[in-house]
Amino acid sequence: MDKTIKYINENKKRYLSELEEFLKIPSISTNPENADDVKRCASFVSDKMNEAGLENVKIYETKGHPVVYGDWLKAGDDKITILIYGHYDVQPVDPINLWTNPPFEPIIKNNKIYARGATDDKGQVYIHLKSIEAILKNESKLPVNVKFVIEGEEEIGSEHLTPFLEKYKDMLKCDYVVVSDTAMYGEGQPAITYGLRGLSYNEILLTGPNRDLHSGSFGGTVENPLNALCNIISKLKDEKGKILIPGFYDDVKPLSDKEREEFKKLPYDETVYKSDLEVDELFGEEGYINEERRTARPTLDVNGIWGGFQGEGAKTVLPSKAGAKVSMRLVPNQDPDKIDKLFTDFVTKLAPKSVKVEIKNLHNAKPAITPIDSPAMNCAVEALKKAYGKDVLFTREGGSIPIVNTFQEILNAPTVLIGFGLHTENAHSPDEHFDLTNYYTGIESITYFLEELGKIK
Ligand code: BES
Ligand code: ZN
Repeated sequence: MDKTIKYINENKKRYLSELEEFLKIPSISTNPENADDVKRCASFVSDKMNEAGLENVKIYETKGHPVVYGDWLKAGDDKITILIYGHYDVQPVDPINLWTNPPFEPIIKNNKIYARGATDDKGQVYIHLKSIEAILKNESKLPVNVKFVIEGEEEIGSEHLTPFLEKYKDMLKCDYVVVSDTAMYGEGQPAITYGLRGLSYNEILLTGPNRDLHSGSFGGTVENPLNALCNIISKLKDEKGKILIPGFYDDVKPLSDKEREEFKKLPYDETVYKSDLEVDELFGEEGYINEERRTARPTLDVNGIWGGFQGEGAKTVLPSKAGAKVSMRLVPNQDPDKIDKLFTDFVTKLAPKSVKVEIKNLHNAKPAITPIDSPAMNCAVEALKKAYGKDVLFTREGGSIPIVNTFQEILNAPTVLIGFGLHTENAHSPDEHFDLTNYYTGIESITYFLEELGKIK
C-alpha cells in the first residue's frame, strides 16, 4: 500500500477541493424546498463513485430521498464483503445568523473546513470514496469486496431506507457494515464506537381557546396552553434528572461492573468539558459519571417550545396554541415504540381537560450495541493504531444512527463504527467544521483498514 499512501499525500489538494464541492450542495433532508438540492447531491455522490472506480453505480429512488449504491466485487469469493454506509443529507442551518460564514460556502481556517455537513457526515463519507479511489488507481484491485450505500434521510430517521434494505437484501448481503459517522475521543485519540443510543422523538401540541385572546380581557378565565404545557413538561423529569414517565426505566439493561470500570478509565477531563461549553456546573442523573450519562443512560430533552408572542418587547396575549418537541435518547433494551406509547399515555393523562392535546411521533430509532471482538473490529483497531500512532479506545456514543440496528436485523451483519469527527466540531449547530488532519488521516486509516480486512479468511 506504500504507493497508495504516497498517492493520497500527493492528492490532498484535489481531495479538499472535491470535498468543498460536496459541501456546497444544501442537501437539507427535512426541508421540502431543498428536495432538488438533495437530488443533486445524490448525483454528485454517484458521479464520485464512478470516478473512484466503483461499478454498478445507481441512484435508487425511494418514497423519500434517493439512496446511492455502488460496488466493487472482484476481490474473489475467499475475501469478505463489507458494506460502507453513510449519509449525504445534512441538518438545517438555523439559527443562520450565528454562522460566521454562510453554511454552504465552505472556507478553511486553522486547518479545519467550515460548512454544514463537514463532519456530519459528508467529510466522513468522502474519506471512504477517496480511499477506494486511491487503492483502485494504484493497486488496480481492492483487498475485499465492497458495497456502498449512501443515503439521504439519516438526519430525519432513515424511514425509507428500511424498505430499501428489505427489497435489496440479496444485493446488499455482506459480512460487516462499516460506518464513519461518529467521533474520535479527542484530538489525536482514535476511538471505535460500540454503542449508540436510540431515540423517540415526539411533538406535543396543546390548543386552548379558538383564537389568541387579550390577556387582560380573558386572562384568569381560560387555560393558557403555554402555561399548561410548562406544567406538563415540568412533570416529565425531576430536578435531579430522573425521568418520571411510569415504566420508562423498566427495560434498561443495567451496566455491568466491568463496563462501569471501563467508563472510569476513559481520559475524560471535566474541566476541559466544562470550559468548552462555558458552564460552571454540569447537570445529570445522580449515581452516574459524565461519560455514562452522555452515552449509556437514557435522557429526555425539550428541543424546542413555542406559542404566544416571541418577538422583541411585550405583547399582552393569551395564546390559542402551544407546542413542544421532546426527544428521548434510549439505551439497550428500551424499545422506542413502547417508550413512545408510555410517553403519549403519560402526557395525555397530565394534560388538563381545559386544553385539547395532540401528540405526534416524528421518528423512532432503536439503540445499538456492536460486538467488540469480531475480526473486523480487530482490523479497525490495527488500522487506526497505524495511522494515528496511538492505542484505540472503545467508546459508546450518545447520538443515534437509526439504521445500524436495522442492518443487524435485516442483513444479519454487525457494524464497525469507525469515526473521524470530534465532539467539538459543532455537528447540528452553527459553524460546523471538520479537522483536515482527520480528513487525510481518515483516508489513510480506511486504506489500512481495507488492507487488514483483506487478511480475514
Ligand atoms: N452522526 C450523527 C450520529 C452521532 C451523533 C454520532 C453524535 C456521534 C455523536 C447522526 O448523523 C445524527 O445526528 N443522527 C441523529 C438521528 C436522528 C435524527 C434520528 C441524532 O442522533 O440526532
Ligand atoms: Zn451523521
